[in-house]
Amino acid sequence: MNVRCFDSPEQATAALAGRIADAIRDRPALVLGLPTGRTPISLYAELRRLHAAGALDFSRVSTFNLDEFVGLEASDAGSFRQYMERHLFRGVNLARERIHFLDGAATDPDTECARYENALDAAGGIDLQVLGIGVNGHIGFNEPGDSLISRTHRVTLADTTRRDNAAAFGGDAARVPAEALTIGMGAIMRASAVALVATGPEKASCIERMIRGPVTARLPASFLQLRRHVEVYLDRAAARRL
Ligand code: PGA
Repeated sequence: MNVRCFDSPEQATAALAGRIADAIRDRPALVLGLPTGRTPISLYAELRRLHAAGALDFSRVSTFNLDEFVGLEASDAGSFRQYMERHLFRGVNLARERIHFLDGAATDPDTECARYENALDAAGGIDLQVLGIGVNGHIGFNEPGDSLISRTHRVTLADTTRRDNAAAFGGDAARVPAEALTIGMGAIMRASAVALVATGPEKASCIERMIRGPVTARLPASFLQLRRHVEVYLDRAAARRL
């Protein structure tokens, strides 16, 4: 893994924004895989800034978000779709028809997962997958367990994950949906490039295990060790155990 360590979280996400901007300039029709969470908020702010400065054109870019909560309409304030509208989509010139999202309110989640997997295939897979990491080592909502699932699937969220997502639900973990839809490990492992960002001291342990530990379904991000290239953007706090 190609690990880069920065003095501050903002420097780490600004460097990653620059990496994404370079990829879009090289390939204007880039297929970009996108995460949600606290960590990428400053990443998306920087991408909006680059776009507003006339330095970045999203008009031919396609995006695929990693995951969405089951049971939430796209218009629900707690949905990842609304997070993306607030932090990125409204601030850049993405074509609406090239924004791909799992529908958490789909009546048949299995059909919805198959639709998304087909859309990923039709796009030729992901060119650049941007990832965060959960404190439990999840990527997307591929949660730790006895095994991992390759395709887009429905998942029961770990308690730590519901706690970490409580802020968007009035701080109450019990109001965070118990399930989500997520792309699987297959689309992540097949992406042409992967860039993972982690900041803050609470990520130091999972980052150490991701890079130095065994490859295990108990820490899904450890599977990234099997890829030829992974770029890892860290601040000092997340890198302190390396
Ligand atoms: P966070 O989420 O950025 O809010 O820590 C990361 C993740 O769960 O992937």
